[in-house]
Amino acid sequence: MINVAIDGPSGAGKSSISREAARRLGFIYVDTGAMYRAAAVFVMQRRIDPDDAERIGSILPMLDIELRYENGEQKVYLCGENVSRVIRTREVTRCAPIVSAHPKLRQCLSDMQQEMAQKNNIIMDGRDIGTVVLPNADVKIFLTASPEVRAQRRYKEMCEKGMDVTYEEVLSDIRERDYYDENKPISPLRPAKDSILIDTSELDFEHSVQLVVDTVKGHVGL
Ligand code: DC
Repeated sequence: MINVAIDGPSGAGKSSISREAARRLGFIYVDTGAMYRAAAVFVMQRRIDPDDAERIGSILPMLDIELRYENGEQKVYLCGENVSRVIRTREVTRCAPIVSAHPKLRQCLSDMQQEMAQKNNIIMDGRDIGTVVLPNADVKIFLTASPEVRAQRRYKEMCEKGMDVTYEEVLSDIRERDYYDENKPISPLRPAKDSILIDTSELDFEHSVQLVVDTVKGHVGL
């Protein structure tokens, strides 16, 4: 099986670029961020304190996350329930980093991710895919863009949705998230030693996707 790991900071366009690159290559796209978000919903539904490592550890055997493909779109199911929309809410976005700091939960999701990678040609995106989950991936890409460019893109998206924010607020959130991701004690965000750096600051979506597709093809001889 061909395994492609794509890591990088939030807002670099990882998910949309990975999804489209996977479609063009005919690979399955695995969004590990969506799995951590579903795990956050699992904890929230049971009204468990997201900092309570012990209780979270005790319910892990019941955690059942499935990524299904319906009309070419990835849907996330938690214990049989479609949570694709709820995982994108602000509450879940706030809870996911807390829940994802627990080593036992990370191990549980990492096992699920490794199983998917054994069975399929995949592009898997996240924060620790090339470093921890798939250290032997055929291709490792670290996809990034400057904080200013990421903030600008995110700001534009939020304005289009009618949200009331300033560019400065969005930039400050991005810097805060970067600091947290790069300094967390477990699985901090950093490029794997053998990863290929792709900086999309100066690239539009189409060029970014094409560069990822060409990089994968060049490495695995497709
Ligand atoms: O990429 P995202 O915003 O959907 O990720 C949701 C949360 O999960 C975010 O707090 C980072 C975390 N995450 C993680 O710890 N490890 C991963 N492989 C992917 C996401």
